[in-house]
Amino acid sequence: MPVITNIADLKRLHKCRTPKMFYDYAESGSYTEQTFRENTEDFAQIRLNQRVAVDMTGRSTKSQMLGQDVAMPVALAPVGLTGMQRADGEIKAAKAAEKFGVPYTLSTMSICSIEDVAENTSAPFWFQIYTLTDDDYNKRVLERARAAGCSALVITVDLQLLGQRHKDLKNGLSAPPKFTLPVLLDLATKWRWGIEMLQTKRRFFGNIVGHVDSAGDPSSLASWTAEKFDQSLNWDRIKQLMDMWGGKVILKGILTTEDAEMAAATGADAIVVSNHGGRQLDGALSSIRVLPSIVSAVGDKTEVWLDSGIRSGQDVLKALALGAKGVMIGRAYVNGLGAMGEAGVTTALEVIQKELDTSMALCGERRIDQLGRHDVLVPQGFFDTYS
Ligand code: GLV
Repeated sequence: MPVITNIADLKRLHKCRTPKMFYDYAESGSYTEQTFRENTEDFAQIRLNQRVAVDMTGRSTKSQMLGQDVAMPVALAPVGLTGMQRADGEIKAAKAAEKFGVPYTLSTMSICSIEDVAENTSAPFWFQIYTLTDDDYNKRVLERARAAGCSALVITVDLQLLGQRHKDLKNGLSAPPKFTLPVLLDLATKWRWGIEMLQTKRRFFGNIVGHVDSAGDPSSLASWTAEKFDQSLNWDRIKQLMDMWGGKVILKGILTTEDAEMAAATGADAIVVSNHGGRQLDGALSSIRVLPSIVSAVGDKTEVWLDSGIRSGQDVLKALALGAKGVMIGRAYVNGLGAMGEAGVTTALEVIQKELDTSMALCGERRIDQLGRHDVLVPQGFFDTYS
């Protein structure tokens, strides 16, 4: 067993053990990847404020997200094609999250279906939806999520069309992969992945294939988004979708105070300050840079969470100290999954929790709800550099 000390260790194993096209899918940003890089670089610019001789006994990372008890305020974000990183990946990730005590979000663009995940877990999970033009599909998929006991709906509001990720085009990304010569050569060193894949029947977009009249190539994320996603999406339509669901809603993909105000006005239970992991608008600001202004604008009206750039417990601490009530992680747990399956997701969560706990202790903090601006040191002008 390799010694895993941090998420970067899991990322290295993920790269060795997973076909290039799926590793690249997870590790890409759009276009020049400026926003993708700045998400992590900006976290690195923030420092933590050490305190000493503070009683650190009786610490806890426990908190709540949407009124639900969580082992730490870190939810697994919706990630497309998770079941291609490892066979039955969504089921494995959901099981790890359930055992750990954090929420799991299933993406519409998952390989395992809503029903697959529900049959293999007992804790309610969250379901993520993009808005498609096909309202029959929207209604049916929400009905399926309700029947599966999903406890909240995550509506992605920043992906009406897909930001171009160069590597996906070059790699010919599809689920399942098409067996071209480069793919076969790559698989020759990733045979364990292939054997596991042969042992599962879940190799297609499980929430899509068989549930919609197919047009174009249903194995291609790019062709799907181009054909089916609702480019006319607006706040009225988001509200319509929320009413169609009728339960708790999280709006994911907010980067400005104006949009945060609009999102809060819909009555959303939480919003996620996010640039989609740098995968959509290249050139957008990192989510940590815009977080405090959004918290000031709407933090008293809705729960404000953050994703994009979190790779450690120290990052979680920085986000919480700057006002987020919770965070979502995507790549950090996918690295674990690609590295070691369900055990890898558990390891990723353990690594992050331990880092969070130790860093809280060294900042003189014992409880999540006591974290605040006093725990971080931010470069002069950091939040006002761009206007
Ligand atoms: C889907 O949400 C993606 O970013 O690929």
